[in-house]
Amino acid sequence: MAERYFAVVPAAGGGTRLGAAEPKQYLDLGGDCMLYRSLDALLAEPRIAAVTVVLAPDDERRPPSGRFDGRVRFCAIGGATRADSVAAGLHSLSASEDDWVLVHDAARPGLSAEALARLIDTVGDDPVGGLLALPVADTLKRGDASDRVTATVERAGLWAAQTPQLFRAGLLRRALAGDRAGITDEASAVERLGLRPLLVRGEPANLKVTLAADLALAQALLSHGGA
Ligand code: CTP
Ligand code: MG
Repeated sequence: MAERYFAVVPAAGGGTRLGAAEPKQYLDLGGDCMLYRSLDALLAEPRIAAVTVVLAPDDERRPPSGRFDGRVRFCAIGGATRADSVAAGLHSLSASEDDWVLVHDAARPGLSAEALARLIDTVGDDPVGGLLALPVADTLKRGDASDRVTATVERAGLWAAQTPQLFRAGLLRRALAGDRAGITDEASAVERLGLRPLLVRGEPANLKVTLAADLALAQALLSHGGA
């Protein structure tokens, strides 16, 4: 049987750095919330068979009926860290070992259909998998505790990781089993197994909303139809 594509969307965070009254995935972005916009971006890809949204255990918010097609399932099974939430989502998937899983942050509402298709097409049947990422453009400085530059860091070969990150279900389950301390994305967990994920060019509009200023930027990009 041909492999299928599943998606897991970690949406169980509290948004402490943004500091709004609600978790950031529920903040308004042009008439709809950030989480639902991120889901729309994934659902635009017909190759995705099913999307599991991992909510915090006490989160009872659900979309109005008919807002999404039958591919979306909401599970209030989130954990203490992002990696714990992703592991819980993976555990609840009915995916076979060789099926593909796209993990995409609820806090990245600006993913374009083109970038998503590029990731799926470029990874193809790669033995490891890959992730969207952007080559770093700024000159990089290392700073000390009093914000003094201690070094300029060589930029060549450095990329900033985005999501989605695309790996086979079996590999990802193995990578996220056991100690998840210090794992901030799926690729880093896969790297710990000694494997080298593929870097696929992402896009600036696929930023992660972390601080209040990012929310304003996401709103501006959205109202201009992306960038
Ligand atoms: N996330 C999750 N479970 C957690 C922590 C985070 O599912 N225990 C999700 C968030 O909802 C978000 C994504 O992982 O979609 C990226 O995490 P981050 O940007 O750090 O979001 P928050 O943890 O909500 O924000 P903060 O770190 O500022 O509290
Ligand atoms: Mg966080």
